[in-house]
Amino acid sequence: MTLTFAPVGTPARPLHVVNDTECAAWCATQDAATQSWVRANSFTGAAGVTLLLPGADGTVAGAVVGLGTAEDAARRRFTLAAARAVLPEGAWALHGDLTGAALDEAALGWLLAGYRFDRYAASPVPKAQLVPPAGIDARRLEIIASSEAMTRDLINTPTADMGPGTLEQAARDLAACHGASVTVTVGDDLLHQNLPLIHAVGRAAAEPPRLIDIAWGDTGPRLTLVGKGVCFDTGGLNLKPGSSMGLMKKDMGGAATVLGLARMIMALRLPLRLRVLIPAVENAVAGNSFRPGDILTSRKGLTVEINNTDAEGRLVLADALSLASEAESDLTISMATLTGAARVAVGPDLAPFYCDDDTIAAALAASGAWVRDPLWRMPFWAPYETMIEPGIADLDNAPSGGFAGSITAALFLRRFAGSAPYVHFDIYGWTPTAAPARPKGGVGQGARAILAALPGLLPL
Ligand code: BES
Ligand code: MN
Ligand code: ZN
Repeated sequence: MTLTFAPVGTPARPLHVVNDTECAAWCATQDAATQSWVRANSFTGAAGVTLLLPGADGTVAGAVVGLGTAEDAARRRFTLAAARAVLPEGAWALHGDLTGAALDEAALGWLLAGYRFDRYAASPVPKAQLVPPAGIDARRLEIIASSEAMTRDLINTPTADMGPGTLEQAARDLAACHGASVTVTVGDDLLHQNLPLIHAVGRAAAEPPRLIDIAWGDTGPRLTLVGKGVCFDTGGLNLKPGSSMGLMKKDMGGAATVLGLARMIMALRLPLRLRVLIPAVENAVAGNSFRPGDILTSRKGLTVEINNTDAEGRLVLADALSLASEAESDLTISMATLTGAARVAVGPDLAPFYCDDDTIAAALAASGAWVRDPLWRMPFWAPYETMIEPGIADLDNAPSGGFAGSITAALFLRRFAGSAPYVHFDIYGWTPTAAPARPKGGVGQGARAILAALPGLLPL
């Protein structure tokens, strides 16, 4: 699904945008009939409230949307997007004082409010269109929104239609669109290519496990993205209870998010060399499942004692990160729906990330705030390294006690990440309660923040 603005120059009705303090002054600029209409409707500029404005002939002449108070601006994102659902068909042009990040947020929110997951049931798309306001980069925002729509579609599609094979096809389709090359290692070839943890986690599933490796660009700094592509996570022999398993089609949210970010980078033709690695597996139950107590030898040679087959994401990512570390990279980023502990710590709306480099971390957090893709830095807390050291193997995939579950998972990954600057995101990938521009369902986290930060992170 591509999300776009109305063509520039389309005749459009005015869509006024006012906050609570601007409302009275804005109202005073309107004709007498409109002023009494605004008063009669008690419109005060409250956040998300949309009022259609009548013309003399009884048609809709325009509309006004409230942005609320300064506090609302901190509590809500994409407030303008709520208006799109209630505006009548036709083109609309923003009128108001929005500039900079707030203008970008309004325009992007508008586009994202056009997203629908309609593969299995029709869902009418809002007919109102926005003429791109002066001061935005319309094409860039269209690319960002359409890439986010792709991420959401990948997450929302249930595993029966989005297994490892389909995820591979989605990666191939994306690569073909942008002239990227793809190599995929499937099934027993994972053993021949020394990717044993990916094989161990995925071997019990009906669709064989695989490693997807995309390369794009031939000059510039090297960016490596690694995404957890667990197409369904039953927990394996440490089976999840039904209540925890229900949403596990989204366990490829890291893969979906890095593919969305890759789409943004390729469509914008950023001058860099991109590599995307996705271990695509299903963590399933069968006679050949890997077991609690098994000790597996990773690609890197480190042995891992399996204390819980449900801590599978760090295993498949470990081999992918090892492979990544064998080639040059100027920045390596992993994204994964890795732990329930991350969701407990920061909730579904804030993406925790780990990074040893204070400059990179600060740039990411600042970009996240700027583009309203909020991130929160977490520590690679070295004193907890002992928690992932079981004694009879080099590493433990699931330390008992569960203290600092997101941190210990991040420390586990760092053991495989090599010497390039490394950032790891432990995302949730799902909007549990609909909000403006974010319907309930799959959602990308962190990609827009990374995109905005890239020029400061790499010599572009
Ligand atoms: N995919 C889950 C993590 C997850 C669960 C993310 C719920 C978002 C929502 C992951 O594979 C997992 O099961 N992790 C375990 C690890 C534990 C066994 C050490 C967890 O977090 O409970
Ligand atoms: Mn799991
Ligand atoms: Zn998982």
